[in-house]
Amino acid sequence: MSTIAIIGPGAVGGVIAASLLKSGHEVTLCARRAMGDVTVSLLSGDIKLTSPVTTDPAKAIAVDWVLVATKAYDAAGAAAWFPQLVGPRTRVAILQNGVEHRERFAPYLAAEKILPVMVDCPGERPSPDRIVQRGPGKMVVPAGAAGADFVQLFANSGLDVSATGDFTTAVWRKLCLNAPGAINALLLKPTGVFHDEAAAQLAREMIRECMAVGRAEGAILEDALPDQLLAGFRAAPRDGINSLHADRAAGRPMEVDARNGAVVRFGRKHGIPTPRNEMAAILLAAM
Ligand SMILES: NC(=O)c1ccc[n+]([C@@H]2O[C@H](COP(=O)([O-])OP(=O)(O)OC[C@H]3O[C@@H](n4cnc5c(N)ncnc54)[C@H](OP(=O)(O)O)[C@@H]3O)[C@@H](O)[C@H]2O)c1
Repeated sequence: MSTIAIIGPGAVGGVIAASLLKSGHEVTLCARRAMGDVTVSLLSGDIKLTSPVTTDPAKAIAVDWVLVATKAYDAAGAAAWFPQLVGPRTRVAILQNGVEHRERFAPYLAAEKILPVMVDCPGERPSPDRIVQRGPGKMVVPAGAAGADFVQLFANSGLDVSATGDFTTAVWRKLCLNAPGAINALLLKPTGVFHDEAAAQLAREMIRECMAVGRAEGAILEDALPDQLLAGFRAAPRDGINSLHADRAAGRPMEVDARNGAVVRFGRKHGIPTPRNEMAAILLAAM
């Protein structure tokens, strides 16, 4: 049994917390505001989050694992927990979208403490007292000692957690999936918009830009990926709402810098033009 602190018990953090509780771990929830009773509806059934909740970083104590599950733009707030939670043997896993997990937390932690995680764990928090797992949860980490320990941590959790020797491909493949989500956020139209051929073609082009940049970073991405991703969007429920769209609709900040912004940044680094992702990033940032 390991001691685990989850910073950001939202949709992903709640599903992870419930999955770890189910497998017998000791979990503390680090939230920025008080939480009442929360029930997590996992695919395997409901679990009440019985974990202690702390809202004061100064009162946290060191644990074996810190799992950061805030949005990417809340990195500085998440880091306020590190001085108390992170001891000499603590590892810090970053469960966020994007490709810059290490860079985002480099100002706050030594590089060897950070384990980046590709998180594909569909979930939502429809009300303050309820978190719902929307599909099978998958996480991928880089191979190595920390990655192996992370995989072990999730044994019997019901989540598919694996280590890979090619983490670069794992995160860029996920970014290719996320990049066209900006179209939904700009139009405030759910996944069904990709049945429109012009919107679908724009999505393919945004994915191709992301692929070109990802390949320059060393990711292995097959030519058929844009069509595969579009086929997935078209097979999904038409009323599905991605997090960028949900955040814009709710007037919350959006993770556009970690998503389309990253495509543009890494594109500049390699001299690869990314005009569609750049326009999306500029328009969403301006909102
Ligand atoms: N949800 C999904 O289906 C999904 C799937 C794949 C990847 N992801 C990625 O996973 C990450 C987390 O997403 P999410 O959907 O779980 O977001 P979320 O539901 O918004 O949860 C984030 C949580 O972090 C909390 N938080 C923010 N600052 C904090 C701080 N300083 N201390 C403690 N807690 C803090 C928020 O608190 P408040 O409640 O006060 O706002 C919220 O509860 C993102 O990078 C997202 O892109 C999400």
